[in-house]
Amino acid sequence: MTTYEQIFENNRRWISEKKASDHDFFDKLAKGQNPDFLYIGCSDSRVATEELMGVSPGEVFVHRNIANLVCNNDLNVMSIINFAINQLQVKHVIVCGHYGCGGVKAAMQARDLGILNPWLRNIRDVYRLHRHELNAVGDEEQRYKRLVELNVEEQALNVIKTAAVQKTYMSTGYPLVHGWVFDMKSGNLIDLKIDFQEKLKDIQEIYNLGAGEE
Ligand code: CO
Repeated sequence: MTTYEQIFENNRRWISEKKASDHDFFDKLAKGQNPDFLYIGCSDSRVATEELMGVSPGEVFVHRNIANLVCNNDLNVMSIINFAINQLQVKHVIVCGHYGCGGVKAAMQARDLGILNPWLRNIRDVYRLHRHELNAVGDEEQRYKRLVELNVEEQALNVIKTAAVQKTYMSTGYPLVHGWVFDMKSGNLIDLKIDFQEKLKDIQEIYNLGAGEE
């Protein structure tokens, strides 16, 4: 395990490595950002966003919270979605969950978790929406994995419910919204292949915030 002091040594080594491969690396970095991706994922320390995506600093705008939730009254995530779409003009919005998620696991248990209750309630709502499918899965581990996937899908739908996504998509064809699951046992990044256009159409039957703007 890394000690506190080692972090600053690591940082100095990282600076030399970056400068060795590109002398102007930090000058370019300081000039500004123009990422194509907004990534909304879990805070879990094992899900290392840039590393598992194989991208460099400046390529992904990142938001992480417990269990990668997109709650419509969370000013933090809503500000990030708005800024990423309207200012940064990202082309892809990704919600990434992961198997083995402690937040999802906690929401499956009959326990009072204090301040976490209202946060994890969102996952219990996902369970309730899909309870017939989930209850039909006999194996608990498989049911847990399926809830991780369904939670990603529902949070991706929450992204699609925003005016920012609907209006910008209708005028520019972007952003596209995706759902991923990271399987840390294998390192695989799994694309759940959410049909964005079909989901958008379905969502707009009820949550249409883009009408009359064209
Ligand atoms: Co997690």
